[in-house]
Amino acid sequence: MESNDKKVTTDVLDKPPRRGFLLVVGWAGFLFFCLVAGLLTMVDFFKPKVLFGPSSRFKAGFPDEYPVGKVSTRWMKDRGVWIVRTERGIYAFLAICRHLGCIPDWIEEERLFKCPCHGSNYNLDGDVVGGPAPSPLFRVSINYAPDGQLVIDKSLKEDRVGVREKGQFLLPV
Ligand code: FES
Repeated sequence: MESNDKKVTTDVLDKPPRRGFLLVVGWAGFLFFCLVAGLLTMVDFFKPKVLFGPSSRFKAGFPDEYPVGKVSTRWMKDRGVWIVRTERGIYAFLAICRHLGCIPDWIEEERLFKCPCHGSNYNLDGDVVGGPAPSPLFRVSINYAPDGQLVIDKSLKEDRVGVREKGQFLLPV
């Protein structure tokens, strides 16, 4: 009997303190997770939150690249701009419908910019000739660079019908 008691006591003393060990490992894991998450959040906080897109100002080539009487869709995909050259000069439209902001298409056969969303139509001057659009297409600034190329600046938009054919929004060629 005595030897049995002795054996039990020895067994308990030989076993590692398992519960305490698991508690320590659990807390250590939790603290490690918090530390890593905190560090990642801090790194993310200090990273610049800027979207680098194409500049609103760009060179669009030489005027001779744009035939008279034509609408150029060359910059539509990358810059969202049409360039139009007429007898009066050269100008550029922002390809955004003035109704709710869809992207119209230039339909050469009809000589119209047609919006597929609700049917607004604009003529070669950008004026509304049909549909619900309340205002003409925006013209954007167009000028010459020192090397003679055209410079489009989409950040400068012309929106007043009365002054549409003046200044930087109609470039004499
Ligand atoms: S968005 Fe163009 S007609 Fe409505």
